[in-house]
Parts: sequence; C-alpha cells; structure tokens
Amino acid sequence: MKKILKRLLIILGLVLIVMQFFGPAKTNPAVDATKTIHAATTVSPEVTAIMTRACYDCHSHQTQWPWYSHVAPVSWFVIDHVNDGRQHLNFSEWATYNPKRMKRKLEEIKEEVEDGAMPLKSYVPLHPNAKLSAADIQTLSAWTVAERQRLAQSDSLSAQ
Ligand code: HEC
Repeated sequence: MKKILKRLLIILGLVLIVMQFFGPAKTNPAVDATKTIHAATTVSPEVTAIMTRACYDCHSHQTQWPWYSHVAPVSWFVIDHVNDGRQHLNFSEWATYNPKRMKRKLEEIKEEVEDGAMPLKSYVPLHPNAKLSAADIQTLSAWTVAERQRLAQSDSLSAQ
C-alpha cells in the first residue's frame, strides 16, 4: 500500500512538473504613453488610483503577476482572465478606441462597478486592496458620466 502511494505521489509530481511547460504565456506588452487612457482624456489622480489598484491587473499592460500566477495549473486560469480582461477593456490602449467605443466602455464600466461585478469576485479575496468602497464606486461612476458628456460635446463641436 505504502509503495503504491509513493508511486502515485511521484507520478503526480512528474505531471505537475510537465504541466509547467504548457499553457498560455504571461505578457506585459510595453506601455505606449500615446495610447493610454491618460493620453486620451483627463483622469483625476483619485480615479487613476482606484483603477490602478482595482482594475489594472486585468485591464492594462501593467499587470502585477502574483506568485501563484507562475505555477500551473493555477497560472492557466490567471493568465486566461488577464488576456480576456485586456481584450474586453484595456486602459493601456484606450486612446486607440474610437469615440463610440469609448462611450460604450464608459457605460459598461459604470454598470459593472455599480453591480459589484468588477473587479472579478474571485480576485478580491487575494487582493483586498482592490475592494471598492461605496465612495470608490461613486467616484468611478461620476467620472464615466462626466467623460461621456465631454465626448458627446466634442462630437457635437466637430459636427458643426
Ligand atoms: C481579475 C481580473 C479582473 C479585474 C481585477 C477586473 N476585471 Fe473587468 N473583466 C475581467 C474579465 C475576465 C472580463 C471579461 C469577461 C467578463 O465580462 O466577465 C472583464 C470585463 C469587464 C468589462 C466588460 C467589458 C465588455 O466589453 O463587456 C468591464 C466594463 C470591466 N471589466 C471593468 C472593470 C473595472 C472598472 C475594473 C476595476 C474596478 C475591473 N474590470 C477589474 C477581469 C477583471
């Protein structure tokens, strides 16, 4: 019995080692300052601080990879979330969005944070710093409204 258990543990260990060589790659593409959200719009230091601590890990190129993101199979889930998050919304590439897309994303940001859907629930327990207070949600929402108004205004100016 002991022998079987020992063999099983060795096999499990080998499988875990082999797993480390597979799965998606972690990336932190270079940040081009002309493409970030700060290049396209004014973001108050307050809003920047909230987004940096609560959203940037999955919605920018400035991901801080935690230690467990280096260990398969957990890394596969983490990298997948980051790739998926960046694809949906990327503050490092915000300035490349057209105004229509910006407005839609702003609306979605407001909805997601007010519903408590973002930051992702699975993320918060290991990143308590990312938890949004009612005041944080209010600050972010107000910013999205102001920014959408600003975009609508510049639309109507360019239409004249
Ligand atoms: C742990 C990773 C993670 C964090 C942190 C995170 N998100 Fe997300 N976010 C995702 C993923 C993955 C998706 C795409 C799948 C989905 O909609 O659930 C997403 C989708 C979104 C969408 C929807 C975009 C669309 O096109 O549908 C918005 C808006 C959003 N996030 C805003 C935020 C904001 C704002 C924060 C910070 C307050 C944040 N997220 C923090 C992972 C994250």
